[in-house]
Order: sequence, then C-alpha cells, then structure tokens
Amino acid sequence: MNTQFLCIIGLGHMGSGIADIIIEKGIWPLKNLILCDLLPQQLKHFENRGPLTLTTKTQAAVQKSQIVLLSIRPQEMKPVLTGMQDIFRNDALLVSVAAGITVRQIGDWSRCQKIIRAMPNLPARLGYGMTGWTATPQVTKMQRCHFQRIVGQLGVDMYFAEENFLNVITALSGSGPMYFAYITSELAKIGVKMGLTLQEAQTITKQTLLGASMMLTYHQLDPGEFVGQVASRGGTTEQALIIFEKQGLGRIIENAVQSAYHHAISTLPSSPD
Ligand SMILES: NC(=O)c1ccc[n+]([C@@H]2O[C@H](COP(=O)([O-])OP(=O)(O)OC[C@H]3O[C@@H](n4cnc5c(N)ncnc54)[C@H](OP(=O)(O)O)[C@@H]3O)[C@@H](O)[C@H]2O)c1
Repeated sequence: MNTQFLCIIGLGHMGSGIADIIIEKGIWPLKNLILCDLLPQQLKHFENRGPLTLTTKTQAAVQKSQIVLLSIRPQEMKPVLTGMQDIFRNDALLVSVAAGITVRQIGDWSRCQKIIRAMPNLPARLGYGMTGWTATPQVTKMQRCHFQRIVGQLGVDMYFAEENFLNVITALSGSGPMYFAYITSELAKIGVKMGLTLQEAQTITKQTLLGASMMLTYHQLDPGEFVGQVASRGGTTEQALIIFEKQGLGRIIENAVQSAYHHAISTLPSSPD
C-alpha cells in the first residue's frame, strides 16, 4: 500500500491541472495528497474533492512529504528552495516542472540529491500532454515508478538521460500548443474574410486540427507522407502546398523553433549561483 505523502506546491495553470488528473484518475491515495498554494483562492477549486489536505503553509507541506512536486514560476525557484533547505526530508524526491531551471541549480539551491526535472505542456491538463523528463542517478527505482505513475496519466512521456534534450522539448512541445493555435487562429481569420462567422470559422479550423492530429496519432502516420496523401497531384490542396514551399514556410517554422530553443538555453546558468 502506498503510504507516502505527495505534495504539489503551486496550483497555477500547470500545478492545478496535474492535481486534477491525479484526483480524477485516482493515482494517489487522497489522504496522502497535499495541495499547497500561497493564495487561498487557488485552493477553492479543490474543496469537497475528498480527504486530501489543502494548505497555504508551504514549509509544513514539504516537511511531511516524500515527494515534492514544484510547480511555481522559474524565478521563484531559488528563493523557495534555498528557504527550505533544512525542511526537506533526507529521502525526499523533488520533481520540478520549472522551465529553464536545471537539475544542478535545483540541487544547489535545495541540497537535495533525488531530483526529477520534467517539462510537460498545457494539454497535460486533459491527459493529452507531452512530457520530457530526466532524473539524477540518486533517484531510486521506486521513486521513478511513483513519478511514472503520475506522468503517465498526463499523456505521453519520454525519458532523456541527457538534460539538454529538455530544452529541445521546451521548444517543440512546451511551446508547441502555441504553434498549432496560431495557425488555427490564422486559418479562422481567413475563413472570416471569406464570409464565415468567427464561430463557424473557429469550429471548422479547430475540428480540422483535431481530426488531422487524431489521424496522424492513431493511424501512426508519417506526417510528411500524410501531407503527400492529402495534397494529391493536380488537386486543390497541392496549390496551397506549392505556396508554402515557394514562400518558405518550413524555414519560418524552423527559425521560430530555433529562437525558442536558444531562449531556453540562454536561461542556463554559467555558474551555480
Ligand atoms: N503553463 C505552461 O504551459 C507550462 C508548461 C511547462 C512548464 N511550466 C512550468 O510550470 C510552472 C508553473 O507555471 P504556471 O503557468 O502554472 O504558473 P502560475 O499559473 O503562475 O502558477 C504558479 C503558482 O504557484 C504559487 N506559488 C508561488 N510560490 C509559492 C510557494 N512558495 N508556495 C506555494 N505556492 C506558491 C503562485 O502563487 P502567487 O501567484 O501568489 O505567487 C501561483 O499560484 C513554471 O515553472 C513553468 O515554467 C508551465
């Protein structure tokens, strides 16, 4: 029986989504689940959800927990972790989802050695997320199992032995929902220009995005081949593809993703301050 305490610190967009999934899927015994945020109104959403603990007292939550999942903003990581150095249990597993904060920084600031750094994306809230993660060698098999039980319910997860791949994940899937939302929004605007109402245009473009994504995923199609199948020779879709290629849409996308990647890397510290 799992008697370990799991606490989630920070119940903003990401933390509350992860907490919702844990509760809905029954991943963790509710009496051993502690949800903590400084703002009492962030806790309201979790009232009457069973025998879990809701608190604004971060230190008490951390002191009691074998697993501490930190979902606070990156700039808050250093003061929060250094302030709790003496509070963490010796055997505590720290899980951080903070963008750009390295395992080394987390270790230096917290003095904990068992650390998992994960990079989910927002669709994790629905169980359709993509999460890349890495772990220090000190994380035990059992702790990895506990983490994988949680992350597995957020969507697809991928382990990387090399931490730098988390910056690639940040640029591809962390920022990725924006890329698809942007294109969907642009398509809808064009639909409006062509006479549709905004609601009609958005319904059409969102359903098209969902349908294409479902086909690619569930039929395990190669996206490049799928482009070729839909853009059949001499057809209407091919006309659009010709413009994409002539005007270099691929290059624009690459520049955008590279720029996000370099921004993720640039937040890496040169020294463990
Ligand atoms: N949103 C995404 O798409 C996404 C994707 C991948 C990773 N992440 C990472 O997830 C983390 C959280 O992002 P978010 O978008 O959920 O941010 P957010 O909405 O700002 O949520 C952070 C929450 O943490 C609370 N908090 C701060 N310090 C605390 C403390 N000492 N104890 C308890 N609660 C505390 C904040 O309260 P106050 O407002 O009072 O400070 C806020 O409610 C970030 O590090 C981000 O890099 C986010």
